This record gives sequence, C-alpha cells and structure tokens, in this order.
Amino acid sequence: MNAQRTNGKVTTKKRLLTGLRPTGKFHLGNYVGTFEKDLELLNSGEYECFFLIADLHSLTTGYETARLIGDDIREGLLDFLAVGIDPSKSTLYVQSLIPEVSELLLLFTMLVSVPRAQRIPTLKEQVRDLKLESASLGLLNYPVLQAADILMVRGEVVPVGKDQMSHIELTREIARRFNQLYGEVFPEPEGLSGRFPVLPGTDGKPKMSKSIGNTIMLSDDAESVRRKVMAMYTDPTRLRATDPGHIKGNPVFVYHDAFNPNLDEVQDLKSRYTKGKVGDVEVKQKLVAALNAFLDPIRERRAEYERQPGLLEDIIAEGSRRARLEARETLELTREAMGLNYFPRARQRVQEVGA
Ligand code: TRP
Repeated sequence: MNAQRTNGKVTTKKRLLTGLRPTGKFHLGNYVGTFEKDLELLNSGEYECFFLIADLHSLTTGYETARLIGDDIREGLLDFLAVGIDPSKSTLYVQSLIPEVSELLLLFTMLVSVPRAQRIPTLKEQVRDLKLESASLGLLNYPVLQAADILMVRGEVVPVGKDQMSHIELTREIARRFNQLYGEVFPEPEGLSGRFPVLPGTDGKPKMSKSIGNTIMLSDDAESVRRKVMAMYTDPTRLRATDPGHIKGNPVFVYHDAFNPNLDEVQDLKSRYTKGKVGDVEVKQKLVAALNAFLDPIRERRAEYERQPGLLEDIIAEGSRRARLEARETLELTREAMGLNYFPRARQRVQEVGA
C-alpha cells in the first residue's frame, strides 16, 4: 500500500488503475467489463483511483491515424465522466502527456526477453486480426508499456477484461524481477474481472465489439436502443412464442441479467420463456425499458459535460499534472534503485532544462 499525505495526514489507500485505449465511444460491454468495477471501488472510498487514456497504445496498431485520436480521446473521456467517474475524487489522465512512462518502458524492456514478449497471446491475435506481415517493436512492447502504466502509479488493483490477464501477469513478473534485482520498489498488481468479463454482442457473437458492429453504445439514444434490441439475436430454435425457449447463450437474457434491476421480472420472463408462455417481443420490450432507464442518467451527464468543452480540458490538465508528479517520483525511485544516478549535480542541472 502507498502512504500518501492528504492535508498533512498520512492515509493508506490501495491504488487502482484502469487504462483504456481511446477507440471513441464506449459500449455496454466496456461498462460491465470495467466501468462497473471502477465505480464500485471508487465509491467505496477505499481506493485511490487513476484512469488512464492510453493513446500511445493506440499507436501500436495504427500510427497512421495519430492525428485522429484526439476526437476519440474526447469521446472516451465523456463516457468516463458520463458513467459517473468523479474527477474530483480520482485522477483522469492522458498517457502521452506523461513522458516518464516512456522512460520507464525502456528500463523495463531490459527485464523481458524477446521470446517471453512473443508468447503473449494478444500479440498473435493482433497480428492475425490486423493481417500484419509481422509485429513492430512497438506492438511487441505493448504489454511492457502497459506494465509501465501500472507500475508508474504503483498500482495494486487493475480492473480488466479477461483478454488482458496475460498483460497483468507480465506486469507482475516485471515487478518481481525488478524488486529481486534492485530492491523493493514496485507492488505486484492484481487483475480484477467484472461481473461479465465478456458481454455477447446483439448478434449473439460471444463478444460485443466495435469492429464487428454488434454494440449498444453508452451514448445511443432511446430510439436506437429500441431498434437494436428489437432486432437482437435470440434463440434460433424457437419459431413460435409457444415453443419452449433457451435462456443459455441467449444474449437478450444475458443483458436482462446485467442491466435489469427488477430480479422478479427477469425471473418471471425466464420461467415463462422456457415454458413457451411469452413472446420474444415482450421480453425485448422489457429489456428496452430496463436499458433506457439505466442509460438515461448516463446520457444526461454526458450532455452536461458536452456543453462544457473547457471543463474537459481542465479535467485532463489537472489529472495529467497529478499523474506526472506521481510518475516523476516513481522514476526517481527506479533510477535510484538501479544506480542510474552518477553525476548527481550534472543531472540536477540538466533537469532544470525541462523544469
Ligand atoms: N491494453 C488495455 C486494453 O486494450 C489498455 C491499457 C493500457 C491498460 N494501459 C493499461 C489497461 C494499464 C490496464 C492498465 O484494454
């Protein structure tokens, strides 16, 4: 745990870091995979929370779009705020504004062998999905950069989807290796999955994903939600409302479980569905109502922030400033531990250049 001083008092709160690549607007899968856990832990008051917009990670698979990432950052930030992440209680920041991350990445690359980095399953998936001839060094370093993000704030808890667990494992290895070689600097962070580490898409595919186009976005209006739900994939074996239906693998019921707070209603629908006593239309209409009730406050908060572009800039400025102070301190400790501080007077004078 990290001891911090707040108004002179020393408190010990666990550190939480969530990182998301800016891919534009977020969807219901991102909500149950990450945001829900974030909100729970943030609102418990027991965690000091950092929320990172990982724009450098986006460059690993599409450097040609660098100039376009700006809008995606803005949309992603609006979603963070819209779901209820309170910038006065947490630190929201942009990765590329913290140059220390890149230095920490470089130092960590010395601790990871090339075959170890090549064994990370997400690397093979990216190369395959993006039809790359081979991975760039940047892409090979992807999880090492993620480790730098996490260890830079000395994060202990990291809410992530299932596919990211191999990156957390590598982060733990780097922390362990570093501490063994140079002395205790870093905690070994723990990955935490939400209630639904993967949410199926509206088309019944196992994962809701923007690239497949089977999403319901957090910012969709009520009419779009209605349209998407009414067209959703259900049980393909059920031809008439009187046929007994299947709950398992049926995304309509997965969404009811995830977003309908009226458990009695969900139970009643399930039991009638399996007996062939309810039509798909009714099940879907009730889902539309539940989803829109869930999304309404999110839409309202989003609209409020959208009206204040200056405030967004201030939130990022303040959060990134705080994150950078943290980064400087960690890098200082890291360099110290590694013995990277010959010519201390020279170093101080060089540092003044960037002050
Ligand atoms: N790799 C993560 C993803 O694709 C994004 C990410 C970058 C991240 N840095 C992080 C996640 C640090 C957790 C912690 O979703």
